[in-house]
Amino acid sequence: MRIGVPKEIRASERRVALSPEVAGKLAQAGHEVRIETAAGENARIPDSAFAQAGAIIVPDACTAFGADVVLKVQRPVSVVEGGPDEIAWLHEGAGLIGLLAPFEHRDQVEAYAARGLTAFAMEFIPRITRAQSMDALSSQSTVAGYRAVIEAAHAFGRLMPLMMTAAGTVAPAKVLVLGAGVAGLQAIATARRLGGVVSAFDVRPAVKEEVQSLGARFLEVAAEEAKAAQTEGGYAREMSAAFREKQRAVIGEALKKSDIAISTALIPGKPAPRLITAEMVESMAPGSVIVDLAVASGGNCALSELDKVVEKHGVTIIGYGDMASRAPTHASAFYAKNLFNLLQLMTDKESKAFRPDWEDEIVRGALLTREGRVVSEALARGGL
Ligand SMILES: NC(=O)c1ccc[n+]([C@@H]2O[C@H](COP(=O)([O-])OP(=O)(O)OC[C@H]3O[C@@H](n4cnc5c(N)ncnc54)[C@H](O)[C@@H]3O)[C@@H](O)[C@H]2O)c1
Repeated sequence: MRIGVPKEIRASERRVALSPEVAGKLAQAGHEVRIETAAGENARIPDSAFAQAGAIIVPDACTAFGADVVLKVQRPVSVVEGGPDEIAWLHEGAGLIGLLAPFEHRDQVEAYAARGLTAFAMEFIPRITRAQSMDALSSQSTVAGYRAVIEAAHAFGRLMPLMMTAAGTVAPAKVLVLGAGVAGLQAIATARRLGGVVSAFDVRPAVKEEVQSLGARFLEVAAEEAKAAQTEGGYAREMSAAFREKQRAVIGEALKKSDIAISTALIPGKPAPRLITAEMVESMAPGSVIVDLAVASGGNCALSELDKVVEKHGVTIIGYGDMASRAPTHASAFYAKNLFNLLQLMTDKESKAFRPDWEDEIVRGALLTREGRVVSEALARGGL
């Protein structure tokens, strides 16, 4: 199989869809791996590391795209966006695997079908035990949750841990984490490691034990509805107006006492729930910091701005939409491993050709387009 890895050209994307480790594994398995020159530059992985692992460094994007299967981090760029037409560089019938944001860019999914591509969205890999090693949402959320706390600690003019020194005593910072999924749990763990006193809130009571086992306090909204907050897929549901009212009161009280808030709440296929209002920001002490990890999906905080750091009412609000990409070396390594594990599943053991089993639950879940048609069940349903 010829596997192509182009350089990511979207603004502020530093990751690359291959690591030297995975390049080595693919080359050893007998595949031809072509990676565009400088593709790993922003993740601090030089061409020489890929070459040593057995990959072929190609001089331009067009050559990297001309493969049987193309591995991407972000969806291809199009002429409409002012870039080159990356979709046109893909061969008809080629495989395309990436974080293709299909809910948000449905028109582009149609374009994959029109080009005859077999496209897979890493976001749609089912959250089942067998697919854990391919779960890019989890691997990237892990990095993002960690990095969110590092960004918050950096922007916070004070110290995080309890310090008793000859020059004075510092109380530990109070950290509130909203949404305790993969990113939230990693944020809790990181904030605890830095010595913060952490509380967390999630609509799914199922996460209470996990939150507590990390040494954080779990905030609860007393409501019957909470019992049904989790979908079969393990995700959160959109809650009723009455529930949201109660939730606002709990979060509002907790925020007043917090120095740092990390919000991570998402509902797949829907705008992010609005958890932090402008009034709540105003109620926080000057010098506090909010990191809104949901900013690209509309934001959990009313005052966050995508890809910006803003100061409102003396509170710093960080809205980086590229949080995982801010730790690009490990984010790329995790992501490349996810892709490798998915490719293994879709490769014929004998011929080493790209031959997915179309009935496999993981393949079916991630598949967007095939033979000129949009075939995604998640897109048809409008949710995961
Ligand atoms: N292979 C597996 O079995 C596997 C892998 C990864 C994740 N999971 C599970 O999938 C689930 C979703 O994880 P995720 O991190 O991708 O979720 P996500 O990114 O969709 O959402 C982040 C968190 O926000 C929470 N949330 C949504 N609305 C909220 C609101 N109004 N207020 C507060 N919190 C709100 C969600 O419950 C979730 O915990 C979790 O249960 C996770 O443990 C399972």
